[in-house]
Amino acid sequence: MTASRSECEISFTVNGERRTVRAYPMERLLDVLRRDLGLTGAKEGCGEGECGSCSVFMDGALVNSCLVPVLQAEGAKITTIEGLAQEEHLHRLQQTLLDCGGAQCGICTPGILMAACHLLNKKPHPTDDEIKEGLSGNLCRCTGYTQICEAVGEAAREGGR
Ligand code: FES
Ligand code: FES
Repeated sequence: MTASRSECEISFTVNGERRTVRAYPMERLLDVLRRDLGLTGAKEGCGEGECGSCSVFMDGALVNSCLVPVLQAEGAKITTIEGLAQEEHLHRLQQTLLDCGGAQCGICTPGILMAACHLLNKKPHPTDDEIKEGLSGNLCRCTGYTQICEAVGEAAREGGR
């Protein structure tokens, strides 16, 4: 099968809003989100599916948007870090990450938050090991992970969603 070299229209829902973009089918979802839709929260770290800094939800699954051809997003429901907070209120995880000092340079932070939110959606009261496992796809060069895991535990105790 030959990949199409022509741009096409691709429609999906991002953070509750229906969006249509013109893009090459094999362009990375990460690039389309950042460049075409101005959603720059998802970050490029490795670009190879190893660091998790580009994590978003696609139909409820946690995916590395650097590995997703935008064509795969046709008709999907995407949530990015910009969709996590409710209006001007930070999501509980965002607040506990701030309170615990779990964000330093911030490159990993959006991906960590998406992974943590995904974990708490599945397991509202994770054990410490489950938190580590849930964040195992996300690399952080700054914090040493302790504060991040504390923040997720604290959010869970507060009844995180
Ligand atoms: S930038 Fe996508 S996993 Fe690292
Ligand atoms: S806060 Fe810098 S990489 Fe995690």
